[in-house]
Amino acid sequence: MIDLEKLESEFAELYQHQPQLFKAPGRVNLIGEHTDHDEGFVLPMAIEQNVYVAAGLNPNNSTTRIIRVKSINLNSSAEINLDQAFSKKNNWTDYIEGVARILEQKGFRLNSTDLLINSDIPQGAGVSSSAALEVAIGRALTETNKQPIETTQLALIGQQTEHEFIGVNCGIMDQLTSAIGLEHHAILIDCHTLEYQPIPIDFNEVEIVITDSGVKHELASSEYNNRRQDCKGGLKILQQFFPNIEWLHDLSYAEFKVYENRLPEPIVRRCRHVITENERTKQAAGFLSKKDYQSFGDLMWQSHDSLKNDYEVSCYELDLLVDLARQRTDIVYGSRMFGGGFGGSTVTLVKKNHAAEFREFINENFKRK
Ligand code: GLA
Repeated sequence: MIDLEKLESEFAELYQHQPQLFKAPGRVNLIGEHTDHDEGFVLPMAIEQNVYVAAGLNPNNSTTRIIRVKSINLNSSAEINLDQAFSKKNNWTDYIEGVARILEQKGFRLNSTDLLINSDIPQGAGVSSSAALEVAIGRALTETNKQPIETTQLALIGQQTEHEFIGVNCGIMDQLTSAIGLEHHAILIDCHTLEYQPIPIDFNEVEIVITDSGVKHELASSEYNNRRQDCKGGLKILQQFFPNIEWLHDLSYAEFKVYENRLPEPIVRRCRHVITENERTKQAAGFLSKKDYQSFGDLMWQSHDSLKNDYEVSCYELDLLVDLARQRTDIVYGSRMFGGGFGGSTVTLVKKNHAAEFREFINENFKRK
């Protein structure tokens, strides 16, 4: 937990004026993995941990347009001059500068703004600390400059920052989930229309456990982009047989099966994952609405197997965590890796009041292996 009063007083001491506070949560994805970049369906939810930003206009600088920013987590500071050209720094400040520059491209006009950031979202665990940073910064900059931004546009600016300033061609899931920031609900997002439907989760019946494998997902960005390319290539071939499809999820699995032998390896498996995962996600949203956690959990196991065997973004430690969860179906409904893959975390749907027992079981057996 971040001490918000302390954050405010540190800001006041550092910049000599009073801030406003903003926050944006990390996310976990219950199901719908590696579908957003093909404009499919995802079912994520916000987590309790947030990036917090204390922010205020610099009252002593109305001549130049400089963003002063400090990260408490990293104990690092920077200044960004908005009237000078951008140069990539290859560090955390690229996120801040990316968001600010894209806001300006979209017509927002930012004045000298001071920012102090603190976050309790673990980094590298796959719970979208960077998307939360983009969203929190975007909100802080627009609100303090009195040019409020709409939720979807804020998320799109975060995504564009990843594409253009960080080099990761991610989908919209992480930023949109963080920008919506809804408690106690999963959100079924149609990543094509960006329409979303909140689905309440009954925490009197279930608990959701996130387990960090401890493996940093470093391979993720290059392999992420490769998988996207595979899917694009597969779509092109399938469009020869189905000229009307625009995205992989426009095909049912049954339709895909007829032509799957026309696709080369590994493209055929990449496409099969995306198509089946979209079907699972829509089905899972229905089960969640009906509180059918058993059927929901079955789809989580299937999703993991598909990510492991077809999309090939899992790793030994993630598989081990899911295999251990499979040994405890007395208290577990379902478990799967989530996020980009190659490390990061698993998400497990556990029966109410059994999270502690599950945690103990995993701690003991994971370390031993
Ligand atoms: C990362 C990306 C998301 C999404 C997931 C995989 O978290 O940022 O857009 O593609 O991987 O589902």
